[in-house]
Amino acid sequence: MTAANMVPACFLDGPENSVFTFADLQKLPHADSFLTAEEQSFLKLIRIDKRKLEWQGGRLAAKRIISHETGKSMTALHVEYDAFHRPICGGRLISITHSNGIAAAAYAGGRLVGADLEKIKPHSAAWQKHSFFEEEIPGHTDYEAIRAWTLKEALLKALGLGLTVPLKSINISALASGGLPVFTGKALERFESLGKPCLITKTSKIGELCFSIAVEAQYA
Ligand SMILES: CC(C)(COP(=O)(O)OP(=O)(O)OC[C@H]1O[C@@H](n2cnc3c(N)ncnc32)[C@H](O)[C@@H]1OP(=O)(O)O)[C@@H](O)C(=O)NCCC(=O)NCCS
Repeated sequence: MTAANMVPACFLDGPENSVFTFADLQKLPHADSFLTAEEQSFLKLIRIDKRKLEWQGGRLAAKRIISHETGKSMTALHVEYDAFHRPICGGRLISITHSNGIAAAAYAGGRLVGADLEKIKPHSAAWQKHSFFEEEIPGHTDYEAIRAWTLKEALLKALGLGLTVPLKSINISALASGGLPVFTGKALERFESLGKPCLITKTSKIGELCFSIAVEAQYA
């Protein structure tokens, strides 16, 4: 069974009234049914087939959500990036991720949102040591490590940083007991410049994939 067979093809509820959805990269509709003319021209410039599919899948997932939200057709919605390189669809902040033949998008009504999808697989002890604090992956299982990775990447995307800062600039060990992430360095600077948003996270295990979402709380 492929990863694509395991992900639901519908809108799913994330925390704080957010929503997310997936797109199967092997079953993408024709580009002209969901991309603008400008986006179709850009697609032609992408040389690597895998990247072409991922780029389209992220846009399809994002546009499905925003089209449903606004009533606009997908071909009337453009996905662009803001100054932090966060994706914006139809003027609304969204998050995009792709992995293992699947793309996903998440939306939180325009509030900060970050999402990350990764395959659960073994990683070296050196990778774990480089990316995480001991207490963040207490059982040292493959799932715990990937869960921690996706949570950190989702949080960093919500801050518009992506992986431009080290994963250790976030400590997520308090999440297990209902606490909040702690930021240091450039992540802390961005967190403070955004008004110290209360970021709520959730992880879903979908077959062999791990999906995490970080969303700015509605009523902080
Ligand atoms: C962007 C980054 C987090 C992606 O990580 P990844 O695990 O390889 O990829 P994912 O599939 O989970 O996420 C990719 C999506 O993140 C989004 N993204 C990129 N930069 C982002 C940012 N600063 N903040 C939030 N989201 C971002 C994009 O929508 C991208 O999808 P798209 O290129 O199809 O539009 C990571 O590659 C990174 O930070 N790189 C350094 C900065 C960089 O190269 N930015 C691109 C400038 S051209």
